[in-house]
Amino acid sequence: MTESTTICVTGADPYDIRVGRGVLHELPSLLPESARKVLVVHPPTLRTAAESLRASLLDSLGDGRQVLLAEVPDAEAGKRVEVAAFCWQVMGQADFTRTDAVVGFGGGAVTDLAGFVAATWLRGVATVLVPTTVLGMVDAAVGGKTGINTAEGKNLVGAFWAPHAVLCDLDLLDTLGRNELVAGYAEVVKAGFIWAPEILELIEAGPEHAVDPRSDAFRRTMELAIGMKARVVSEDFREAGLREILNYGHTLGHAIEHAERYQWRHGAAISIGMVFAAELSRLAGRLPDDAAQRHRDILGSLGLPLSYRAGAWPQLLATMQRDKKSRGGMLRFIVLDDIAKPTVLQAPDESLLFAAYQEVAESR
Ligand code: GLY
Repeated sequence: MTESTTICVTGADPYDIRVGRGVLHELPSLLPESARKVLVVHPPTLRTAAESLRASLLDSLGDGRQVLLAEVPDAEAGKRVEVAAFCWQVMGQADFTRTDAVVGFGGGAVTDLAGFVAATWLRGVATVLVPTTVLGMVDAAVGGKTGINTAEGKNLVGAFWAPHAVLCDLDLLDTLGRNELVAGYAEVVKAGFIWAPEILELIEAGPEHAVDPRSDAFRRTMELAIGMKARVVSEDFREAGLREILNYGHTLGHAIEHAERYQWRHGAAISIGMVFAAELSRLAGRLPDDAAQRHRDILGSLGLPLSYRAGAWPQLLATMQRDKKSRGGMLRFIVLDDIAKPTVLQAPDESLLFAAYQEVAESR
């Protein structure tokens, strides 16, 4: 028997997120009734799983339905216009109509691409997202941000397009490597610091248990993190305000990812970014010392990195300065007034930023 929790995203285009073990079998019932054709977008590593998904969809949807598979490169290699064009071609050749549906089955990059393809085909068809990574479940698949990269930067082309439903089957995480699992879990820790302290308490009670995908603690922390994202995007779908808190640890984190030519896992970079943001909050006189230390203790207990090259600061600052152009010309950091009390720190003094960086610099 499967048991799942339903988390609702409200707003103009409401949808449900089903979280649980073995919930993949609910996929046929989550597709729109109108869908005669379904395109499953998946990476090569999930070819066999996508073929079984296709067979079970055909079984349960009945006669007259067509299920197509589009295999796309994994990770950022899939978020290219040529790959989107390949998906559009498959849809065009199958006479995909506005009442048909796309399933995004894979990690965050695959669900971003599938969402984008769905958002743009005939000005928008339904998408059901089935994320297969921790990062995909707690972040990419929830909130309707879809997009692809261009030569000039990541996610420069895209659309806000709410999915029809999201299915987070925790069984899909059993085969993930530990490093990938823990890196994705950095976003769960972030949810703990900005919104749900219960996550922090569960990790402190047993870090190994918390990142064991078969444990109750893992499931609970995943539900809390997905619940946090659902609440935030329900209130602020288009990132006009509250949604910005999700960038906690990301301003420096993105600069580190850029410095590492995107060879680092996102979660490793934002782990350092969160320690930096906590130190910035502390040095700005907002966050108590013990709350900043709690960042190091929790992230360190999971084996996530806490420091970065001391000499990298000028390059990181320059990257952050360039990035700020897309956000109104001023550097903005999400900082904490306390645990679960995020706020914006705008245009902080460079000397304060440098002092906070010294706290994460490796040569200390
Ligand atoms: N990943 C940040 C957001 O969804 O807004």
